Amino acid sequence: MAKTEKIPYDQAREGNRALWDEITPVHLRSYGVERFLAGEQWLPAQILREVGDVEGKTLLHLQCHFGLDSLAWVRQGALLTGVDLSPASIKAAQSLSQKANLPATFICSDVYDLPQNLEGQFDIVFTSIGVLCWLKDLDAWARVIAHFLKPGGVFYIMDGHPLLYTFDDEGGWRFELSYFHQEAPYLWDDDSPDYMDSSYVPQSPSYEWQWTVSDIINAVLKAGLRLEFFNEFEALTDQIYPEMVQRADGLYTFPNMPVPLPVVFSLRAHKPG
Ligand SMILES: C[S@@+](CC[C@H](N)C(=O)[O-])C[C@H]1O[C@@H](n2cnc3c(N)ncnc32)[C@H](O)[C@@H]1O
Repeated sequence: MAKTEKIPYDQAREGNRALWDEITPVHLRSYGVERFLAGEQWLPAQILREVGDVEGKTLLHLQCHFGLDSLAWVRQGALLTGVDLSPASIKAAQSLSQKANLPATFICSDVYDLPQNLEGQFDIVFTSIGVLCWLKDLDAWARVIAHFLKPGGVFYIMDGHPLLYTFDDEGGWRFELSYFHQEAPYLWDDDSPDYMDSSYVPQSPSYEWQWTVSDIINAVLKAGLRLEFFNEFEALTDQIYPEMVQRADGLYTFPNMPVPLPVVFSLRAHKPG
């Protein structure tokens, strides 16, 4: 069970950086790197459909972890720059890029410091799956996205639906945490195993924030972007979370849902001009 912890942002960020540095080698073993290197299509079909053609386009990937999704975009023809807070993730992304012979630029930076660490504007800013919970200020995040988009450029996100984070983390469907944002992050420091490798229990705690649907949409609108769609999914053709199971209709969702619920959302917006 998470506790809220009033701590300065720098301390929460350094805690999260330590966590992601610690679990990067675990994820290098458990994400399916070999399948990716063998040529498997990596990006979920829904993301490919909703982002559209990236051939020859500049794409900024925020919170890219060790670059698997990023390099999958390079395979689709994108000119890619990936950004992540964790030096271990960025080092692994650079070495994977060389190994896969898929050129890309990877930069180690907090999303919030990116305007000081990167120049230029992009056709597409992309981020997905497991990203918003690490961010302390969505309005500032959306301003960073707007800063890096060319006029006419597209922003796309797919992430876990905010409702998902209100349920207990034991696979049950009991409401446990507030739906609404609180300034102090949740501190998770129990013995929960890593989300990709259930045999590994991270030593480092994590600090996470909850955001609502309206927080996400309003942040994007306040940054001056024009909303194209906000979609909610109960199930998808791809198993984007390891706990997802395949239903009789072939789609993947979480098991034992009491009623159909939105578990994933996507949003697309563009910068006017
Ligand atoms: C779940 S992973 C990324 C999602 C990607 N779909 C994946 O599974 O590979 C979350 C990433 O966010 C990064 N991150 C967390 N807080 C960040 C911040 N403030 N700025 C940049 N990256 C951050 C972490 O280092 C981690 O690599």
